[in-house]
Amino acid sequence: MTDVEPDFFSDPELISEAKSYFNRLRSKCPVLKEQYHGSLMVTGYDEAIDVLTRKDGEFSSVVTNLGPIPPLPFEPDGDDISEQLDAVRDELPWAAYFVCFDGKKHVDHRALVTSLLTHKRLKQNEEYLIGLADRLIDRFIAKGACEVLSEFGHAATTFAISDILGIPEADRPKLLDLIGAPPSQLDGDAAHKVGPDPLIFLKELFDGYIRERQENPGPDLMSELAQSRFKDGSTPEPEVFSIVARFLFAAGQDTTSRLITMAVKYLGDDPELQERLRQEPEHISSFLEEVLRFDPPVKMVYRLAQKSTAVAGVDVPAGTVLNVSLTGASNDPRHFANSEAFDIDRPNVRDHLAFSRGVHGCPGAPLARLEARVAIERLLARTAQIRISEVHHGPADARNYRYEPTYSFLSISDLHIEFTPANKTPQG
Ligand code: HEM
Repeated sequence: MTDVEPDFFSDPELISEAKSYFNRLRSKCPVLKEQYHGSLMVTGYDEAIDVLTRKDGEFSSVVTNLGPIPPLPFEPDGDDISEQLDAVRDELPWAAYFVCFDGKKHVDHRALVTSLLTHKRLKQNEEYLIGLADRLIDRFIAKGACEVLSEFGHAATTFAISDILGIPEADRPKLLDLIGAPPSQLDGDAAHKVGPDPLIFLKELFDGYIRERQENPGPDLMSELAQSRFKDGSTPEPEVFSIVARFLFAAGQDTTSRLITMAVKYLGDDPELQERLRQEPEHISSFLEEVLRFDPPVKMVYRLAQKSTAVAGVDVPAGTVLNVSLTGASNDPRHFANSEAFDIDRPNVRDHLAFSRGVHGCPGAPLARLEARVAIERLLARTAQIRISEVHHGPADARNYRYEPTYSFLSISDLHIEFTPANKTPQG
């Protein structure tokens, strides 16, 4: 092996091999400059936490969706680029969504969401999630086989967030079709093609939902959102509600459906674990945490150094993009003993960084955990033996899985399984 690493942001081989790449980089140095875009790869646990939890004003989230691509539309000048950045913020991809905001503006917009995703609302939603999982399983149980992402995970998560938001039942199948796989990131200048707002296709629909709920509020989350105010009592610009609602709709859908699909992959590949979880469903939550640690659905988030600083002794000039590898951090053997083993009993399993950390840490994590737990509980309860389809994915010692061409997400394209329905005797 040569010492020259491939370009993580364009090499298709690294899509499924990202973890070994991050492990390799970490063993050289947990904060390392890559040569293609001049950005820093942060692959260590402590180092990632340091970047994600620095005080306001040091690292900006403005680049958090695409990282070093496209490059900044200005040449960083000096040890503090805050003013240069403020001048171009609105032109940067995804800048309309509060995940890219910083400081007070971020806190104000995030509060609109966190005050709505309450424990009480999730608890009320659990019944619906159980019924939903069972209805989806009913559709494929008799054939003893299914493609997990399209027939189960995708629908379970899209309908779950639709229900919480209060999207009319009649519109849900249409939304299921509209929201497909994440956009390719490896297709030449794909980042430019994504454009300033990749969720624009949802705008008209969500503008309409918010207008309706401002006139006739119901008991759903979008109605509350449409009536909400910032903490200081001021009213957000009218389009803010629609932007927040469509981001909420999209943010958790794909990530959670890939988590469910990945979890089923582990079950299919490990009959003993599968049987243990059927006997001891109380361990399904820690199983899912280990899936999140081992294979985080978001491989990387990104930050931009607004001021010159250092991370783990490495100089970080203002204007540097830091690629914070949630996969690298969550597989760092300095924090997770025997990190290469998939072990649902590890005591610190919830320390993983799959939901990031700090002020941008995922506010949808409790919902994602609930959706995934219910989906896996119901699937295990309704089946006696889940097997990975060898026709589609090859034999146990040479599996073949496809992933979407994105460097930010670990996004399995399809997962075909076979199983024995629970009320039938399993065949050997
Ligand atoms: C397994 C499922 C999920 C994973 C792995 C995940 C992961 C993440 C990560 C890594 C971030 C932080 C981005 C950063 O630091 O720059 C984030 C932010 C966010 N997530 Fe999730 N997420 C999941 C599910 C959800 C769900 C179900 C929702 C909504 C109901 C949601 C809504 C959000 C929002 C609104 C943000 C932006 C927070 C902010 O910038 O303050 N996520 N998510």
